[in-house]
Amino acid sequence: MKGLILSGGKGTRLRPITHTSAKQLIPVANKPILFYSLEAMQEAGIKEVGIVVGDTWKEIKESVGDGNKWNLNITYIHQEAPLGLAHAVMISQDFLGKEPFVMYLGDNILKEGIKRFVNEFERDLPDAQIFVAEVTNPQDFGVVVIKDNRITKLIEKPKKPPSNLALVGVYIFTSQIFEAVKNLKPSWRGEYEITDAINWLLNKKYKVNHLRVKGWWKDTGRPEDLLEANRILLEDITREIKGKVVNSSIKGRVIIEENSTIENSHIRGPVVIGKNCIIKESYIGPFTSINNKCEVIKTELEDCIIMEGSRILDINGRIEESIIGKEVLIKRNDSKRTVKKFVLGDHSIINLD
Ligand code: DAU
Repeated sequence: MKGLILSGGKGTRLRPITHTSAKQLIPVANKPILFYSLEAMQEAGIKEVGIVVGDTWKEIKESVGDGNKWNLNITYIHQEAPLGLAHAVMISQDFLGKEPFVMYLGDNILKEGIKRFVNEFERDLPDAQIFVAEVTNPQDFGVVVIKDNRITKLIEKPKKPPSNLALVGVYIFTSQIFEAVKNLKPSWRGEYEITDAINWLLNKKYKVNHLRVKGWWKDTGRPEDLLEANRILLEDITREIKGKVVNSSIKGRVIIEENSTIENSHIRGPVVIGKNCIIKESYIGPFTSINNKCEVIKTELEDCIIMEGSRILDINGRIEESIIGKEVLIKRNDSKRTVKKFVLGDHSIINLD
């Protein structure tokens, strides 16, 4: 079995972070989202993986490389524009050949991985297999209608969802899918939809199985999803202190990587602090991920994702539920007047008291 990870697309709902960075490379618990799908492929015993890339191909290639780190053989497949999930399948046909393949949306994270999903497919050998999960906002997903334990149809982002069962971003297809995608027309949103391709298989009486996700699953499409995924993944970390701790209290599950210094501070886990960070006279509270080369001085943080190279200096009060991009500087004004000064990129969001 081969793997296909979809890592193109635009990531508009995660602006401004995605103005400068691929959404699949945003770190959650200090690890790029995309790496979770690569780990899942490795764990399921898959060796050959194609990654569909778009405008952000360079950055993705730089961080994933040849896949050696996961014992995977990676082939990059260029998609000229994000024309839809089924379009990504179409352009990958040469790479996929006649073998069945797991298609994994590069912005999804599944706690249970995909091993059970792959095993189930190999046991029953259907023509296609989908993963489903109950959600409270089905209108934001592909929605599945099931009668007598058989799928009857799929509807992409319906205004009036007929069920609360969402399509998870992991699928297994056999080469029948190529026939299905060749017969598609773009949807109302101008995309070749994989849900339409699966409906085509259903209409032609191909066997499409479904499996329910065990544990949690997250489509990291919106900022609040990123923070939630960060919280859930941090729940599972194991305490490991490699950095230097001076006159500070470190409570609970905390990871502090090499060459980081914590001085006169309180850290309350679950928290992960990357390499080469300086934390001084600060409080770092639960569910915070601080990436490499960050500096936090005289500041309180809780429930935050802070990306590489950012500096947060002498902030009055606590920063909570925030996502801070790379090399951001947040500092207190030198002036005595109560003025606020900003240099903000397009689509930035600031909440003041
Ligand atoms: O997350 C599950 C949902 O994913 C499903 O319930 C929906 O049925 C499915 O259509 C999809 O919906 P999204 O609107 O969330 O998909 P998104 O556009 O975010 O794309 C998912 C991933 O695929 C993301 O990593 C970007 C990549 N992609 C997307 C498109 C449209 C590509 O590589 N090429 C593309 O053309």
